[in-house]
Amino acid sequence: MTILAFETSCDETSVAVVREGSILSNVVSSQVEVHAEYGGVVPELAARAHLRNLLPVARQAMAQAGVLPRDISAVAATQGPGLPGALMMGLQAAQATAYLLRRPFVGINHHEAHLYSPWTKGHPPRADFAAFQPNLALIVSGGHTMLVHVRAELKHELLGSTLDDAAGECFDKVGKLMGLPYPAGPQIDRLAETGNANAYSFPRPLIFEPHDDFSFSGLKTAVRYFLRDRPGFLDDKQRIFDLCASVQEAIVDVLITKTMRAAKRIAVRCVTASGGVTCNRALRRSLAAACKQNNLELRLAEASLCTDNAGMIGVLAERKIFFNFASTDLNSDILPAWRLADIGIEFKQTLRIS
Ligand code: KG4
Ligand code: ZN
Repeated sequence: MTILAFETSCDETSVAVVREGSILSNVVSSQVEVHAEYGGVVPELAARAHLRNLLPVARQAMAQAGVLPRDISAVAATQGPGLPGALMMGLQAAQATAYLLRRPFVGINHHEAHLYSPWTKGHPPRADFAAFQPNLALIVSGGHTMLVHVRAELKHELLGSTLDDAAGECFDKVGKLMGLPYPAGPQIDRLAETGNANAYSFPRPLIFEPHDDFSFSGLKTAVRYFLRDRPGFLDDKQRIFDLCASVQEAIVDVLITKTMRAAKRIAVRCVTASGGVTCNRALRRSLAAACKQNNLELRLAEASLCTDNAGMIGVLAERKIFFNFASTDLNSDILPAWRLADIGIEFKQTLRIS
């Protein structure tokens, strides 16, 4: 089976070709430059950039994979959640392609795709579902922070999510306060490497609360007051390094503490992590150390599959077809607020691809 997959939920235009679990091509065109001057994603500009990028990116993905339109057995796209205008571009392109090729269309939940990206490894990346085991999945991206109990393939339960700012959003907003360009997460990661994580103490919101929800807006506000009360603080490089390291430590500490506690409670033996913030080196190191200490297997999504990409959409679509999930109606609409909690508890979707 060969899947052509589209991902346009936010500011990455991506098209991939997936065959029998292998990602043959996964072309991602980032719009970071389009949005950088605004300090965040501008939805209207994102949609327009997708419109311009989709066809060249799709052509490149097909060429890199060495497939022709007639080789495609099904077409997939992110149906939600995400920015409405942005989602509409990818969904429309995928539905039109499926219609013209007379192939089934599969609408995919973006977060559900993140749940399975840690199972894909290697060059070319290949999904290894034979190794699958029940796990606790941490999704940490720019818009979402979630803990999900993945009980079996395509069967999951949302344990907690962010009540306000997500971890990536916190990195980005703290960076903005420091005058760093958007998205600031990767730069804070870099600047923090030479900083002292114990230099300044920042709040760890909800860290000891007996639930799995997250909140990072208080941390961002603490940094705002910290800088307000120290004029000229950012004039010194070492202080910037120390601030980045201290804020990063607070975010990582919350993520690790809550993830380990939930893993123990639900008694899984495996933890996975995906989403853009999973690229963060301190988080990767701390997760590895905490899992080792707690005797848990750790599966981190590879860097290229952490951030938004169509490869993970194609892998999940193929898996859904394998498990006989229904194809999605060609006239179906975008689902900008599609919650992970609405799918995957039971095999609710009706069956068969004809
Ligand atoms: O998953 P993603 O590509 O897009 C969303 O669905 O949001 O995640 C983007 C987020 C941004 O907030 C970015 O700052 C953050 O991931 N990010 C990082 C790192 N790389 C990306 N945050 C911290 N450290 C990094 N190395
Ligand atoms: Zn994402």
